[in-house]
Amino acid sequence: MMATSEPLGAAAAGPQRTEHLSSDPLGVAVIGGGTISRLHLDAYRANPDARLVTVCDIDADRARDTAAQYGAPRWTTSYEEVLADDEVTAISICTRNDTHAVIAAAALDAGKAVLVEKPLGRTSAEAQLVVDAQERSGLVAQVGFVRRFSPNAVVLKEFIEAGDLGALYYATARNLRRAGNPGGWFADKEVSGGGPLVDVGVHFIDIAWWLLGTPEVATVSGFTADRLGDRDHLRHLSRYRSADAGTSASTVEDLAGGLVRFTNGAVLSLEVSYSLHGRDDVGVKVYGDRGGAELEPELRISTEAHDTILEVTPQIDSLTFDMSAFDAEIGAFVAAVRGEGPRLAPVQDGLTVARIIEAIYASAERGCEIEL
Ligand SMILES: NC(=O)c1ccc[n+]([C@@H]2O[C@H](COP(=O)([O-])OP(=O)(O)OC[C@H]3O[C@@H](n4cnc5c(N)ncnc54)[C@H](O)[C@@H]3O)[C@@H](O)[C@H]2O)c1
Repeated sequence: MMATSEPLGAAAAGPQRTEHLSSDPLGVAVIGGGTISRLHLDAYRANPDARLVTVCDIDADRARDTAAQYGAPRWTTSYEEVLADDEVTAISICTRNDTHAVIAAAALDAGKAVLVEKPLGRTSAEAQLVVDAQERSGLVAQVGFVRRFSPNAVVLKEFIEAGDLGALYYATARNLRRAGNPGGWFADKEVSGGGPLVDVGVHFIDIAWWLLGTPEVATVSGFTADRLGDRDHLRHLSRYRSADAGTSASTVEDLAGGLVRFTNGAVLSLEVSYSLHGRDDVGVKVYGDRGGAELEPELRISTEAHDTILEVTPQIDSLTFDMSAFDAEIGAFVAAVRGEGPRLAPVQDGLTVARIIEAIYASAERGCEIEL
């Protein structure tokens, strides 16, 4: 198997300026101290090349408690204060979807590298603001496409790049949840930008598109449905609900999907849901002219040799998505900012995925295929 010669995704990473050439640990800040921030904070704490300088949350208690828990010397409720902090070189943005783009663009303009949680923006216009700021600054700007960093995805990408599956021409990505609407701001379209398509679809579109080699998008045909709401009435079933769940009705779709055609002839078929009368179902599969592979629910490669079909199961620690991907994602970000590693998951890729999502909504509304 051949090693890859080009850093993955680096070609699309925009202009490059390295901002941290010192051997001292990188000064980092985390803005937004909710659920997902814990994974960023744990990863920075475990990384000897990073040092947490400050934590920011509009909830003062949360900012103070989180800073104390993770040993940050200061905390604040104002992200502008973080951007003015000379000790901060890089920032993880872990706020709700409605503030990702505005904070990320302002941070880049203030000379800070950013790792922005997904989605990059609620719309492609918001995502474009971040890309423009990256291109003005040349700084590292990474989007939280954490699935790219899961060991099963890294292994499969190596097989694909070595040509083991041949030319890929079809991919499917599915994350069907029967009762997965978290409620609260996730279910408020104004804040989140959308439902399962924006929340989990963003990951599933990205991972399939990345495995396909990030081909250029030609057309998108999509559908949505909103028949069941957040199923707040359900009993006897534990599930994740956000802190303010049940306070208002869901304004996001229950189900979304679509077909994305690429200019190289490849096709991606997608379906995602928050609420559906069916069983939970997760799958990411790619098919080429020499072999195919399932990334989820478990990595498996299908091929043939000597007129015989082979099913190959790589012997690795985790065949499915592994939470260690967050450490790898943040490790790659720190290394890129220090000028010691390639720029992976650039915000330019976040913009392409935002365009696909927007086209799925537009296609669903107009009932026709959209050309990008
Ligand atoms: N990569 C993944 O797999 C993954 C998983 C879960 C969530 N996320 C993303 O992470 C983001 C946060 O999700 P969460 O579940 O942690 O949400 P959350 O509601 O638990 O946390 C968001 C936090 O941001 C704070 N906040 C809001 N506006 C702010 C501002 N202007 N300045 C500072 N703090 C602000 C809130 O007070 C809250 O503490 C979302 O965009 C979500 O899509 C990504």
